[in-house]
Amino acid sequence: MKEKSIVVGLDVGTTKVCTIVGISDPKNPQTELEIIGIGTHPSHGLKKGSVVNIDKTIKSIHNSLEEARLMAGVSIDRATIGIAGSHIYSFNSSGVVAIKGDEISDDDVERVLEAAKAVVMPSDREIIHVIPQEYKVDNTGGIKNPVGMCGKRLEVHVHVVTGAISLIQNLVKCVEQTGIHVDNITLQPIASSESVLSIEEKEMGTLLVDVGGGTTDLALWKDGSLVHTHVIPVGGNHFTNDLAVALKISHGEAERIKVHHGNVLSEQVNQSAHITVQGIAGTKPREIELSNVAKVLGARAEELFELISSIIDEKDLSKEINGGVVVTGGGAMINGMAELGEYILERPLKIGYPIPFGGMTNIMQNPKFSTVLGLLLEASKREGAPYLQNTNTNEENYLDNDLVGKLSHSIKSVFKEIF
Ligand SMILES: Nc1ncnc2c1ncn2[C@@H]1O[C@H](COP(=O)(O)OP(=O)(O)OP(=O)(O)O)[C@@H](O)[C@H]1O
Ligand SMILES: [Mg+2]
Repeated sequence: MKEKSIVVGLDVGTTKVCTIVGISDPKNPQTELEIIGIGTHPSHGLKKGSVVNIDKTIKSIHNSLEEARLMAGVSIDRATIGIAGSHIYSFNSSGVVAIKGDEISDDDVERVLEAAKAVVMPSDREIIHVIPQEYKVDNTGGIKNPVGMCGKRLEVHVHVVTGAISLIQNLVKCVEQTGIHVDNITLQPIASSESVLSIEEKEMGTLLVDVGGGTTDLALWKDGSLVHTHVIPVGGNHFTNDLAVALKISHGEAERIKVHHGNVLSEQVNQSAHITVQGIAGTKPREIELSNVAKVLGARAEELFELISSIIDEKDLSKEINGGVVVTGGGAMINGMAELGEYILERPLKIGYPIPFGGMTNIMQNPKFSTVLGLLLEASKREGAPYLQNTNTNEENYLDNDLVGKLSHSIKSVFKEIF
């Protein structure tokens, strides 16, 4: 049985690179995962979630790792990383096989998952996740674990997430250049869901919306499984750019105003309130009305929620979202986002904060850390696997059988959650 182990989540985002080091205790999976080190550094080499400058990205990752390393006082040699960007494309697929023996074996499950994966894909794309939604044995559906059941025909419905090979490789290359081995790659909104959504929310049908700097990532959960993912190439940085252009101020000044005085609902703002802004390139400071700031931010937020609404309609997801919408990521922090989102999407909506961890909980209780905390949870679950092997419940043994061993670690953790 393993001793306590060091686990690391590394989120290479468009605005920040964040590393979290935790201690997980495989002997005691029930005890809280404890955070012992955090490193955040501005990210300079990404656009819309994808690496566009290798050197700058490596530097940002290196600085973030160093900071976390120093705080934790341990060495870091591997990490679970997140992936996003507009190159991500996901779809639902299914597979069917005839069952060989009297009852369904791990081998049958492996074969049916392979069948579901056998889709025609451009040669420049690879599969990141294959996430089982439900199994059907003969005509009985809604099965989460078919192993040991009797039947003649096994069917599986899966959610497949794919990405551009070159862009995935660029990210992995940047991380590995800093001396860190990439243990596992997880789609960022799946990681955020992990740290923000409850099991009940995933069961009822909840749309997670992660408003980052460069992209807004969607993940829809229903009956405990992932049914849809989508990446929208609009994030918090677009709000900042709009402000900079509309008010003729620098990007830095626009960011400051957005974070400290921003609101997306102009009616929530005192109509006579003003703030002083620094003009560009030495021009005199000016007074601007806060309601004008809100109008600019409101227009962008409205556009973003309208886009989400059109995706819900286009993909016919409306009936699946019984549990409402949870908005997380740094971009969720602009005042008024919850009210405006609820109004446009016409369903309950709340801002999603990550679940508390042991250690530096207060600092991390911020939606901008949802992804990295989810990655840490993924890393910790994987560390727990050897321990689970020693326990005796069928459920846990299933997780360590050959089939899952052959699948990627992130699929393994989703299996753990589902079964
Ligand atoms: N308190 C705040 N109020 C308003 N906006 C905020 C606040 N804190 C952060 N943001 C905004 O959140 C965005 C960054 O969010 P986040 O840190 O989740 O992005 P990221 O992970 O770096 O990017 P991505 O996920 O797109 O790759 C920025 O646009 C930033 O301005
Ligand atoms: Mg992010």
